This record gives sequence, structure tokens and C-alpha cells, in this order.
Amino acid sequence: SPSDPDLVARARAAKEKLGDRVFILGHHYQRDEVIEFADVTGDSFKLAREAAARPEAEYIVFCGVHFMAESADILTGPAQQVVLPDLAAGCSMADMATAEQVAECWDVLTEAGVAGTTVPVSYMNSSADIKAFTGRHGGTICTSSNAKRALDWAFAQGEKVLFLPDQHLGRNTAVRDMGLSLEDCVLYNPHKPNGGLTPRQLRDAKVILWRGHCSVHGRFSLDSVREVRERIPGVRVLVHPECKNEVVAAADEVGSTEYIIKALDAAPPGSKWAIGTELNLVRRLAKRYATEGAGNKEIAFLDKTVCFCSTMNRIDLPHLVWALESLVDGTVVNRIEVDPETEKYAKLALERMLALP
Ligand code: 13P
Ligand code: SF4
Repeated sequence: SPSDPDLVARARAAKEKLGDRVFILGHHYQRDEVIEFADVTGDSFKLAREAAARPEAEYIVFCGVHFMAESADILTGPAQQVVLPDLAAGCSMADMATAEQVAECWDVLTEAGVAGTTVPVSYMNSSADIKAFTGRHGGTICTSSNAKRALDWAFAQGEKVLFLPDQHLGRNTAVRDMGLSLEDCVLYNPHKPNGGLTPRQLRDAKVILWRGHCSVHGRFSLDSVREVRERIPGVRVLVHPECKNEVVAAADEVGSTEYIIKALDAAPPGSKWAIGTELNLVRRLAKRYATEGAGNKEIAFLDKTVCFCSTMNRIDLPHLVWALESLVDGTVVNRIEVDPETEKYAKLALERMLALP
């Protein structure tokens, strides 16, 4: 639906008044009405780098979810302020690993005698606490665009990896990119005593996967892939690595949001694609390629029953306007500030990621 013209004018006016003092980052899953005002759009890796590369901006407005804004705060200078236009924009996956649960897991690994040889690798989609745990225990952060490099690095440091909190990205990377088998991976369930694993299972495992998942990507199924192949003959299926292993195994290509955008850009005119990722991005891409001038590529959504990421969608134009106007009048709403002790170790883990070859 078209944006309220009054709000569009207010967003423009606030942005103009702030000039170089503000830099607006927009994740690819954001609504069109918000993307329109982003100075840069990207996947979570690109946005982390962009945030770190803007030391001159007094304010970073992060149009994305909470863990992304936290990461931006960690990577920016102490005088810079990071703002999340709606504090309720969390991530259900990140919430699936709490600091207490992860500390308990580390105790279980210690009991089993494997903590000394285990390197934590945490997906960007995690709280600053989990990132700090990762940094403290010699581990690194990864995103969907560098998970293989992170695992390569981790296996050069130790014998095992504890992968937090997305079991699917962990499993897909281990099996698809590292040539490990499904049996090399075990699933640690934080709601069961000892994670539901025996010391023997922990000793034999190469990758210990945390039992977390994305509630959006977890809904694409093998049936969605079969159905779309029937419905659109010759279609190429391209999915995000947060999808289940069976979906990834049945797809033609797998990659981060930035990868998906580039793959479609490079695709031949007239080609047909079914995309398994968040709906705002897929709709935007479908619209872009629906015309002759854009190469007339046919872009379908992998499964029509899957919805938007509800928390990404919380950032809308009214919230963006409210946040920008608060910067103009100096009240600065919704600042995201990680405490110094957490920041110190979380930064260590993030910097290891930024330094990955
Ligand atoms: P990307 O790193 O591919 O942008 O992953 C995004 C994601 O799921 C954010 O929640
Ligand atoms: Fe979290 Fe999934 Fe939404 Fe990404 S798409 S923010 S992983 S719930």
C-alpha cells in the first residue's frame, strides 16, 4: 500500500535537517516504505561493516532487528548513538539462546571433558551476551555469508564446534560446505538435562548444534520445493541457509540475502526462480524483475503460506519518522547501548569475524 504522503514528507524533512549527522542502515527484509530512506541496504554482514565504517555519523538508525542494532553499537565509537526505531523488533531465533542456558551448556561440555577442545561459533542472530560468551571462549561470530570461513577458522583452533543458535545454518554449513556427515552433528536441547546428550555423544560429535531456528525460514518444506517445481517447469530454487537441511539439499542454490540479490542480478533474462526467504525481499525482487527492461525474470515465493518476519515488519514509516524527529529535537528515543563489559568480549568475537580470510 502507498505510504502516507505526510509521513514521507516528515521523514524527508528530518533526514535533510540531520544531514551527515545520521546514517540509516536498512536490512533487506525491511518494508519498502523504510528501505526508501536507507542510506545503505545489506545483509547482516554488510550492515555490520557499514556501521563500523561510519565514524563520522553521530547517529546510526538501524532499520532491522535488535541484535543487529546491538552489533552496530559494539562496532561503532563510544560517542556514536545507535537507534532502533521500534524496541519490540527482536528476533525469535536470537531469543532461543539465553546467557544462562549457554553458560549451563558450557558446564555440560566441561563435565564431558570436551570444553577445552571446543570452539564456539555464534551466528550474528544472537544477543550481545551470547557474542560476549563466544569472545570469552576463543570463538567467532559468523553470518550466513561467511559461515564456512568461520567453521574453517574454528576447526583450525580446536577439534569441535559449538554452533549457536541456528541449528539449520550450522548443519547446512557443516554438511553442505564442509563435507561433514549428518552424524557428525548432534543437537543440544537447552530444555533437557545435559542438553539431552550423553558424554559419549558429545565426545564423538564434530559439531554441537544449538536447538534454535528461524520461525520464518523453518516453515519452508520439502513439499514447497516439490510443488514449485511442478507448478513452474524449469524453475531454479534459491533459498536462505536458515532453511531446513532437506530444503537446502533439494534447492539449486543457497545463500544470504545479499547473495540472493546478486544471483538474480546475474541470472539470464527470462529465467524463472522460486525464492525461499523473507517476503518483503522476495516481493521487492519480483517487482523489480517483472518488466522487460529489468530482464523480465520470473520471481516466485517458494511457499505462499509463509509470512513476513513479524519483527522485521515492526519497523514501519511511523516509527522511522518518530525516531528521526527525536534526533532532530535531541530527545533520542530507543537508543541501543551494550554495557562495556559485554561489549569488550562481544567485540573480540565480532572482530574475529571481520578478520576472517
Ligand atoms: P542475512 O545475513 O542473509 O541478511 O540473514 C538475515 C536474517 O535472517 C536476518 O534475520
Ligand atoms: Fe530472526 Fe528469522 Fe526474522 Fe531473521 S527472519 S529476524 S532470523 S525471525
